[in-house]
Order: sequence, then C-alpha cells, then structure tokens
Amino acid sequence: MRFADIHNHMLYGVDDGAKTLEETRALIDAAYADGVRHLCFTPHYHPAYFGEHQQEIAAGFRAAEAYAASSYPDLSLYLGNELRYERSCLEWLGQKRCRTLNGTRYLLVDFLYPEPAEAIMEAMLRVMNGGYIPVLAHVERYESLHRDLREVERMKSRGVILQVDAQSPLGGLGLGAKHRSRRLLASGMIDLVASDAHNLNRRPPQLRPCFEFISRRYGEDYAIQLFWETPLRILESGEGSGQGVARKTR
Ligand SMILES: [Fe+2]
Repeated sequence: MRFADIHNHMLYGVDDGAKTLEETRALIDAAYADGVRHLCFTPHYHPAYFGEHQQEIAAGFRAAEAYAASSYPDLSLYLGNELRYERSCLEWLGQKRCRTLNGTRYLLVDFLYPEPAEAIMEAMLRVMNGGYIPVLAHVERYESLHRDLREVERMKSRGVILQVDAQSPLGGLGLGAKHRSRRLLASGMIDLVASDAHNLNRRPPQLRPCFEFISRRYGEDYAIQLFWETPLRILESGEGSGQGVARKTR
C-alpha cells in the first residue's frame, strides 16, 4: 500500500521539526520505506509563534528535491504550510508569506489546544469566506470539540476537511486523543490521516501501523480513502493560487 502524507514537519530548520538536512534526508528515507510516495511538507506558519522562514523553506525544499530525485525517483514532493490561525491570517496568504497545500484552495489550519469550539467554527467559516477550503489539523486534539459529536458534525456539514494524526488512534498522543480519534473514525467523519511527523523518534513519519489498524477495525476501503485517495485528490486538485511548488516525477 502506498500513502500520501500532507501534514508533517520534515523540512529542516524552519520550525520545531527537523533540524538539519541530514535529518530531513533520514525522515524522507523513513517515510519512503513506510510507503509514502506523495509528500507535502507543511512547516508551521505564524510570524509571532514561529518567525518568517520563506528563504530557508525554499532552500530546504530544493535540497529535499535534489535528494529525492537521486534516491527516490517515484517520490513526489510538494510544499504547503500549517497555518496557526488568527483573525488576520488570510492576509499572509495574499502576501505569499504562507502557502496553501501545493498551491490549491486547501489550507491546513491549526489552533492552540484550549481554543473554544465556537472560535474554531467561526475561524473555519472565515477561511471558507476567504475562498479557501480548510483542512482542520488533528481534529482529535481539541478537547472543546468533543463534548459530543455535534460540533464536529457541524463542521463536517459545512465542508471542513477533518484530519487525524496517525499516532492518535494507536495511543501515541495520549489517551484522550486515542479515544476521540477512534470515536470520530467509527462515525466515518474523518477525511484523512497524516503523520504530523517532527522527528524520527517521538513523532516519526509512520503511517503504516495506523493504516493497518484502521483497515482491520473500520474497513480497508475507508483506510485507502484516508491515507491515499483523499490526500492525493487534495494535492492534485489544481485549483491553485500558484503559491505551492509541485514536483512531478511520475
Ligand atoms: Fe503539525
């Protein structure tokens, strides 16, 4: 089984993920060995929390491309960001300081974990009103959304794309995230799973154990949709504002 990973911090020197080019290469090695064939780097973006790293991101992406081209000709690399939401954040996209996923209309968005459900819902609507399709990063990690399923159902019905981290259903991100992610998977509301990889140890680029778990428990068709069909459809949706960079090797 092959995978498309559209949320990770494997590009070096630009956030709390990989620190060096060697680490980025090792993470690409691990992701490829796990089965990833489409990989979209998504460095955190918020000028106050994470700083501005556009030049480093561009240089890091070129270095990653060069490595992938020589080592893994069938691996496609893409660029995006994980946007830490604030009210004025859509300006950063217009200013090309922050990227959508591969330049499409899909925007990966996260929040601080104590964010209230009403604020997350309002933010999702503002993103949509701005012409983007929000992909809510690790929906299982915001406690405010999980008193019951209604908040998540409301978002789903409005067209928000719901992403779960691959470590969560297996318990790697705590008991709460484990139970919440499993409840959402059982409901069928989750759209895609991504690694959210930061390093080789604590937050590894590992999708296969979660894919196998979801295949067994919720059905292989659903697992294929979560790990391959939906993320690939997003990357190839091509409705882009031209902010991303795609490398096609197939
Ligand atoms: Fe992330």
